[in-house]
Amino acid sequence: MSVDPGNANARDAHAPAARLASYEAAPGEVGRVLLLYSGGLDTSVMLKWIQEEYGAEVVALTVDLGQPGEDFEVVRGKALQLGAVDAVLVDARERFAYEYVLPAIKANALYGGGYPLFTALGRPLIASIAVEQAQRFGCDAIAHGCTGKGNDQVRIESTILALAPDMKIVAPVRGWQMGREEEIRYARERGIPIKGGTEAPPYSIDDNLWGRSSEGGKIEDLAEPTPDDAITLVTDPRQAPDEPEDVTIEFERGCPVAIDGERLGLVELLERATAIGARHGVGIVDHIEDRVVGLKVRDLYEVPAAAILLCAHRELEKLVCTGLQNRLKPVLEEQWSWLVYAGLWYEPLLADLNAYMDSVNEQVTGSVTVRLYKGSVRAVARKSENALYDPALATFGESGGLFSQHAAPGFIELFTLQSRMAHRLRAERGQRGGGSER
Ligand code: ARG
Repeated sequence: MSVDPGNANARDAHAPAARLASYEAAPGEVGRVLLLYSGGLDTSVMLKWIQEEYGAEVVALTVDLGQPGEDFEVVRGKALQLGAVDAVLVDARERFAYEYVLPAIKANALYGGGYPLFTALGRPLIASIAVEQAQRFGCDAIAHGCTGKGNDQVRIESTILALAPDMKIVAPVRGWQMGREEEIRYARERGIPIKGGTEAPPYSIDDNLWGRSSEGGKIEDLAEPTPDDAITLVTDPRQAPDEPEDVTIEFERGCPVAIDGERLGLVELLERATAIGARHGVGIVDHIEDRVVGLKVRDLYEVPAAAILLCAHRELEKLVCTGLQNRLKPVLEEQWSWLVYAGLWYEPLLADLNAYMDSVNEQVTGSVTVRLYKGSVRAVARKSENALYDPALATFGESGGLFSQHAAPGFIELFTLQSRMAHRLRAERGQRGGGSER
């Protein structure tokens, strides 16, 4: 039920909800709305609903981030059929790869130790394109199909508000009281075609060049092992080839540029890595996640490209960085991943962290060979002109004065001084940390 008693539609189950923030659009306040349109049930119902409830024109925008198997011309046609005054398709694959996935590679970004952030990386780009197109078409509001339970609403709205402070936002799913049944009835009554029939899809899917996620349905039963039918991109590791495959990834300043000696643009390289990894059952992640809005969720991720490229990138970095850099960077990577997960793409701290990641990646040139075998990825060979590695250094007579094993005992004496002193004193006082108690 709507909670706003002043709203004439208060008893209408699918009327807009009361507003909490000033940026939420009220009916009558907006004349033309840019809708982030996927062609699915929610956003198709929305396309009509905005016209009916807000009396506004709708411009539909669909963004191509490399979602496999999507026919974007069909999606555009459907938007026009549902009364959109215009329907725009933007191919943002190059921008996504170089401006969003590449920084994530440089930051070895994984949220919660397993999620390579593909959705989280896509949202600020989608929202910034929405702002560009809204301004181009003279729209005063942007509408999206996110629910009130997830991270995506935070990511999209934070971006819009950062880039266009005066833009109004409409998030109908958050306010309307329609469940799937009511949406289907709404769609039927208005002749909205329902893609894939009225049968509820088993999972909620989101995908792009950097990965694919499934949520909901059987996945919510935590006691059940990963449902086989939710894994559709990656081969079941049990069915993967019986022979391992070695794949060599070449990097220039942190950017992957070639696979097995073949130079590729980043979009194509990500697609190639996805195909090779998927064939070997690589990159299945069954993940419990803490959402920004407090809820816990279980997600199934299929991220073969990330599994291969992050493994190779991390290995190369370890080789060209100093030990101190290698100790600090994961701490900053964790911060980077959290900011991106939380949708704070325009937070100045993220720019600071990117400057650090770029600086480190200046050295990340060379190649790493990974071995793929029935779901596993492991580095087996490395090569770099920037490697801080010289096996001759620790050999007598060949160090050229850079390393002397004779100096080692002096080093050990000084290096361990405080630890030894504390251990002895505390043992004498019978204190914890003295070593003998326990
Ligand atoms: N849990 C992931 C995230 O928050 C994936 C979300 C997928 N989004 C979706 N609408 N199905 O980034």
